Order: sequence, then structure tokens, then C-alpha cells
Amino acid sequence: MLFESYLNYDIEVALFLTLLWGTSAVLVARKPRHRSDKRGRRRATFMLVLVALGWLGVAGRLVTTALMGSFDYLFVADRVAVALPLVILPAVAVLVLAVPRWLAHRRNPSAETRLATFAPQAVVPFQATALGALTGFVTAILVTMGPPQLVPILTIYVGFLTVLVGLWLWQQYRYRVAANGGPVRRSLPVRAVRGVAVVAVFALVLVGGLSWAANETVLPGRMNMTDHAHGGVSASGAHGHGGGRTVSVADLTGPRSETPDRKFTLVAEAQKLRLASGKEVDAWLFNGQSPGPELRVKKGELIEVTVHNKVPDTSVSVHWHGVDVPNAEDGVAGVTQDAIQPGGTHVYRFRPDEVGTHWYHSHQQSSIQVKKGLFGPLIIEPEQSDLAPGTQDLIVSAHTWYEDKLPLEPPALFGTIDQLERRKMAPGTPVRLRLINTDGATHRYSLTGTPFKVVAIDGNPVNEPTEVAGKQLVIGGGGRYDVEFAMPAQPVRLTELRRYGKELRVVEGGLLFSADGTGDVPPDKPQETFDPTTYGSPLPTEFGRDSKFTKTHSLVFDNELWFYDGKFTVVWASNGMAFPKAPSLTVREGDLVKVRFANRSHFDHPMHLHGHHVLVLSRNGKPATGSPLWLDTVNVEVGEIWEVAFKADNPGLWMDHCHNLDHAAAGMMSHVIYEGVTTPYEVGHDTPNELE
Ligand code: C2O
Ligand code: CU
Repeated sequence: MLFESYLNYDIEVALFLTLLWGTSAVLVARKPRHRSDKRGRRRATFMLVLVALGWLGVAGRLVTTALMGSFDYLFVADRVAVALPLVILPAVAVLVLAVPRWLAHRRNPSAETRLATFAPQAVVPFQATALGALTGFVTAILVTMGPPQLVPILTIYVGFLTVLVGLWLWQQYRYRVAANGGPVRRSLPVRAVRGVAVVAVFALVLVGGLSWAANETVLPGRMNMTDHAHGGVSASGAHGHGGGRTVSVADLTGPRSETPDRKFTLVAEAQKLRLASGKEVDAWLFNGQSPGPELRVKKGELIEVTVHNKVPDTSVSVHWHGVDVPNAEDGVAGVTQDAIQPGGTHVYRFRPDEVGTHWYHSHQQSSIQVKKGLFGPLIIEPEQSDLAPGTQDLIVSAHTWYEDKLPLEPPALFGTIDQLERRKMAPGTPVRLRLINTDGATHRYSLTGTPFKVVAIDGNPVNEPTEVAGKQLVIGGGGRYDVEFAMPAQPVRLTELRRYGKELRVVEGGLLFSADGTGDVPPDKPQETFDPTTYGSPLPTEFGRDSKFTKTHSLVFDNELWFYDGKFTVVWASNGMAFPKAPSLTVREGDLVKVRFANRSHFDHPMHLHGHHVLVLSRNGKPATGSPLWLDTVNVEVGEIWEVAFKADNPGLWMDHCHNLDHAAAGMMSHVIYEGVTTPYEVGHDTPNELE
């Protein structure tokens, strides 16, 4: 929260700097006309005050940068490379070159001393500072940058210097004219025409530039995700199509010929869904229910899921969130398959090699389809059940429903139940709550009335979980926590909390367990949050913080106000780039990859890598010390920096995106590709496949 205020100050100071130095630059470039000593002196004083204020702004930007940098240098590396030097150096030039002339004019406000302040060396530093301040503002909120990269930075510097040379020559010309007694004053009509022409050219350049920029962002009608012609930056250079063998995603299937151990059928249909509160929503559901049917299987079983699409005019797909399936079974429309057309069928087959609470959801237009209900739980049990006998095993899949794009409050926690749900629970009963966040935004929970244990995170069992009390559980979009407690004699309540600035508020609804189904317990609002990186006891892992990594990938997340797919909007950028230009990562089988996420935006980003689990190495600079934390969705909160690592052991083309699916749809989406992997599928408006 502190970081966010620093970030806001930084952007505000950048804007203030731009306005202030912009004003000075305009004033200082006005033709010198000597009227009276008094006015000359006043003008000089005014300019000197503007310089002092401008320098206050410069100092302010230094402070905000230092404050953000105190979280991690990655947050400000680009500011240090561009925004700061471009404003500090010219502002120093103002002090050295311009200020003495204005002081001289103030002492002796003659026509000569005034003319001296009109020389290029006195005027251009102001213009340069204004331009630098503008660059600093633009790179903070309109077109952001992320970790400094040579080419963009050189481009900015070269562009900056070119403009300065132009301004210098222009000012030199104006200075000479002024020194030779000033220009002939033209008649009013001539001046008016000239003024209009200048404004028109300026407007034309601006409008032209902006529409070019808007056009730049229009998504291609069709593209192949292995094709980087549209500017994607690949961390290791070119894909290795040339060198070795290539393999198509379509061939990386699960076991196709063996007899499946378990068969399921999912039918996607459109239908009205009535929530417990009586509200009705237009939903798209699997098998007519929400959440979709619970697929409960055992580790190692061969699973076959046949999906029929009966949603009119809409294609769907199914992705197995958190399960590292073979690539062709991953269910990403346009990447690992073509979307399932209305009336069409697709068969998925895989043998899960892991346990825990996972979920499945459509991965075609997922920002729309998941909201409309195309999701359900997928529970993979260990060969020996990890549940104590008699356990009440409940799936709590938090979901926000929408009515005409407006979110309905409160979210339904438990299927369609969007109000307080009371359940009878005999004291002594072991209870397992499988909390699944099927929304994009972060959910916060408090469990009141009993201590509890967090026994699994993203499906992965916690080693030696200890009792937790008085802490809120924070689950990012797509994430899961399994919580266990023994039902006490008094009631227990699961409540959602929401943060409004510093204040925590209770969201109505929730779950209330009690011996006889009555009673109450007021929800508490723990300020402290449960930290998964320090919970449980460590175990040896295949790799860790001290391993030698073959690749390192750093991502800084920003929100920009810019164009996306041709429309002006909030863009969610990684290293200043939105899909399909967002930096993807090329790996080779066997690579050990370290990824750093730094969130410099105003919203949480639950980063989800398909096909792999990542091991958390550190959070905000502090090494992870608890039970090994293997995640498929890393919720990087505002101002946070996470270091995670994964082993490249599942060849394919894998999405890597923010699971706030609206963010993914507005740019925060890229992929990890193995060398030599190709895909026959395409995405884009002109194909049947739309990722988000
Ligand atoms: Cu749960 Cu790419 O998604
Ligand atoms: Cu996001």
C-alpha cells in the first residue's frame, strides 16, 4: 500500500514537472521586448521563481524514485536510466547557463541584458528540461519501459538530442533576428494566418501521431504464436527452428491408445442461472450446474474428458488449470487446439502426476467465458487418501457473477449461493475447505471461531503445516488454498474481506457452520496476512536459490493509459509491452529458469504459467523459508517482487499470463516456448480462436 502511494506521488510529480518546466520553456522563448525597467525586473524575478519551483520538482522526483527504489532497484532502473538524467542534466544547464543571465537582467533590466536571456544557451536548457520532464511523464504512465534495454533507451536519447539540435538552430535564428532590431511586425491578417497554420500543423502532427500509435496496436487478424515477426522479444534470441528437429504441439498429446481409467463428459450450454438470492444471470455452464461437475480422480489414473459444445454461436475450450498436462491437452484455443465449434466435440486425455485442488475452465475468450460460468473443480487425490475418516470435504469456489457487465455483489462462495450459507456440522468433524478463486481480483478470507491449518496451496501439500489464527488468507485469481480444521463446539464462519484503502470491510454472505445450523459468530478482520513463503517446514528440493540458472527473465508490470487493439484504454504491460509484443521466453528442455516479477502497477497480478509449477525462491527480497512453495499462479501484489524458478521439463508452447483475465485480455499475456516447437493453430479475429 505504501508502494502504491509512492508510485502515485511519482506520477504526480512527473506531471507537475512537465507542466512547470513546460510553462517556463514557453515564457522564456517569448520575443524580448523592453518596456520598462520595472517590468523587466518583475519578469526576471518571476523566471527565477519558476526555476526554483522547477528544481523543487526535480528534487521531488529524486525522492519518489528513491522511495520506490527502496523496495527494489528493478522498480526504478528505467527511471534512473532515462527520466532522471533527462531532467536533471538540462535543469543543471538552466542553473549554469540561464540563471546568471536572468540575475544580470534583474540587477540591470536593460534591453541588452534582456537580449542575453534570449540567446540559445539560455533558452534551450529550459526547453530541454521541459522535454525531459515530458519524457519522464510519458514513460511513467503512457508508454512504460520496465528493465532498461539498450535499443529503446538509445532511441530516446538520440531522439531527444535531435530535437535539441533543432531547437538550438531555431533559437539561434530567432536570436539573430532579435539582435538585429527584431522582426518586421507583420500585419494582423498575416499574423493570424500564420498562427492558424502553426496550430493546424501542430494538431495534424498530434492527431497523425496518435492514430499511427493506435494503429500500431491493432491485433493481427491471424497470427501464429511461434512467429515473432510482430515484434515479440525473445529472451534468448531466435527460436531454434534451424538447428534440430522440430515438433508440432499437435503431436504432444497424452496417452491416446490406452484404455482410460476414468471417463467424464462435459457439455457446455447456455442457460439462465438462478442464484440463492433470487438474482438471475445469463450463464454458460458445464452440465447445467455451477460450478461445473466435480471431477475427482486419483493420481496416476488415465483420464478422458469428452467436451461437447452446445453454446449457440460460441466456441469454447477446456484448460486444466494447475495440472501439468502434455501440451496438446492444455486446452488453449489457437495455441494447443482449435476452439470447439458450436455442435463440436473435443476429447482430452491425460494422466495427472500430481495431487490436489485444481480447476478447469474455458480458455477461449476466457475473460468472458470464465465469468459466465464455464469452470469447475478438478480434484486429484493421492493414492492413499489424505483426508481423515469422516472429513467434510467442501469446495468453496468464489465467483463473481455479472449482469450486463456489472458485477453482482456479493460473490457466490459456494456454487450459486451468494448469501450467508448455514451448514450443520457436528462438533469434532474434520472439515476441509478447498478455496478456489475463480475470479480475476484477489479474494481475502477470514476464518473465525477456530484455528486452522493451510494444508495445501495451489494443490501442493504443505509440509508440516502449523495452526493459524488471526490472519487473513489472500488468494489471487486462479489460486487455491486447502484449509482444514476440526469443528469446535461453537460456530465457525468463513467470511470474505475487502480492502478499501487502509480499511478492511466484511463482505456480506459467507459460510457459517454450527452444531445445529443456528447461532452466529461475528467475523473478525485480521489485519495480518498469512504468508505462504514462511509457512510449514522446509524439505529438500531439486533446485533452489543457490542453483545455477541457465536463464533469467525479469518482468516489470505497469498499467499504461494507451491504445490496445486500436482503442484508448488501460493497458496491462510487461516491460512496457502488451501482447503479442510482451516478452516471451524461449527455453530448451532441461533449462533451469529464474523469473523475477516486479509489480509497479495499481492492481495485483496473479501470474500463471501453463504446463509447469514454479518454486518460490523469495518474496520482496526475503528468501522463502517454509515448506517448499510450488505454485501455478503467483499473486504478485502491488509493489511486490517475487523470485520464482522452474525446470523446463514439459516441451511445448505454454501460455504465461495474468489470471486476472481482464488484464490478460488487455495485454498481460505472453508465452514460454521450447526450442523447435511449432504449432499449426492460429489466433486472431480472423480465426476461430480468441485466447482471452
Ligand atoms: Cu487458468 Cu491460462 O489459465
Ligand atoms: Cu493482472
